[in-house]
Amino acid sequence: MDELFEAASAAMARAYAPYSRFPVGAAIRDEAGRVHAGCNVENAAYPVGACAEAGAISRMICEGGTRIAEMLVIGQGAVLCTPCGGCRQRIREFAAPGVAIHIAGPEGVRRTFTLDELLPASFGPDNLDGGTPR
Ligand code: THU
Repeated sequence: MDELFEAASAAMARAYAPYSRFPVGAAIRDEAGRVHAGCNVENAAYPVGACAEAGAISRMICEGGTRIAEMLVIGQGAVLCTPCGGCRQRIREFAAPGVAIHIAGPEGVRRTFTLDELLPASFGPDNLDGGTPR
């Protein structure tokens, strides 16, 4: 948990968020115990900006990780910086329902959710396995 917090904090410090002024950091522990971090990267064309969670997932995949074993997201506001809806689905692709997602502020972890709490009755790769071939 400390390692995830440190990695996510360091990533948040490098966030590129000149438009929202809302830096976010995320860190993933993969199935092999390796940690991968990401930050939000905004863009003058606002919808093109990327969330911290998306960056951390991209790094995990690029560095050879395949599964999310634990994750931590950190933001600076008073309100919990829970992953947006799109990122819940991105996490879902690589995490089991019981995976812990810690939500932190600068002072430390504020609350821990399971993925299933954040994205109940979700759609994922398993759904396609039972699908009708085209
Ligand atoms: N953001 C994240 O990076 N992750 C979240 O979980 C919530 C929102 C970013 C997107 C945007 O750069 C800024 O925070 C404000 O929405």
